[in-house]
Amino acid sequence: MPHDTPIACRRPRLEDGAAIHRLVQRTGVLDVNSCYLYLLLCREFADTCVVAEQAGRLCGFVTGFEPPQRPGAIFLWQVGVDPEAQGQGLGKQLVRAFLDTPGGRRAEALETTISPSNAASQALFRAVARERGAQLAASEYFREEHFPAGHEAEELYRIAPLR
Ligand SMILES: CC(C)(COP(=O)(O)OP(=O)(O)OC[C@H]1O[C@@H](n2cnc3c(N)ncnc32)[C@H](O)[C@@H]1OP(=O)(O)O)[C@@H](O)C(=O)NCCC(=O)NCCS
Repeated sequence: MPHDTPIACRRPRLEDGAAIHRLVQRTGVLDVNSCYLYLLLCREFADTCVVAEQAGRLCGFVTGFEPPQRPGAIFLWQVGVDPEAQGQGLGKQLVRAFLDTPGGRRAEALETTISPSNAASQALFRAVARERGAQLAASEYFREEHFPAGHEAEELYRIAPLR
């Protein structure tokens, strides 16, 4: 795909669910959930999800939700960029679009979880905090022993205030 083909971010449609599922598999890093789950997110949580398309092909996505117990927060659940498109600013573009969704515009704090070895994701959220002039705080969330063997811990990263 030529680098100058424009990438557009938009609200997901039901038809994007299976493509998100395939992209999650292609990243080789993200937990692969069932296709049903991605379809459900596209159908019921589209207010807090984003897809990125280049020449009609899905090349990135963000899924998220508004945590019922923390009004004012938006939780970014998974962000993924096609391996061929990584390192070119698309991750930042997707998080900006996520914060511009109906759910994102209501939020004062952005939350996500990151495993200690995921340097790309840590760098992405540090860059988002810097861009917003916001504080980034990390705290314990899921410890390694909460998972079956072979899964790292997931720390909660909270970026606030968003505006
Ligand atoms: C994490 C991910 C979404 C980042 O997307 P991206 O398009 O590559 O990121 P960007 O090009 O927008 O870069 C964002 C920042 O991260 C930095 N970065 C990107 N890849 C990096 C890497 N592998 N190591 C260290 N820093 C990295 C960039 O330099 C940039 O920082 P800067 O603004 O200070 O220069 C992408 O790497 C990915 O899909 N990874 C696999 C899935 C994943 O780990 N998702 C996160 C957990 S939910």
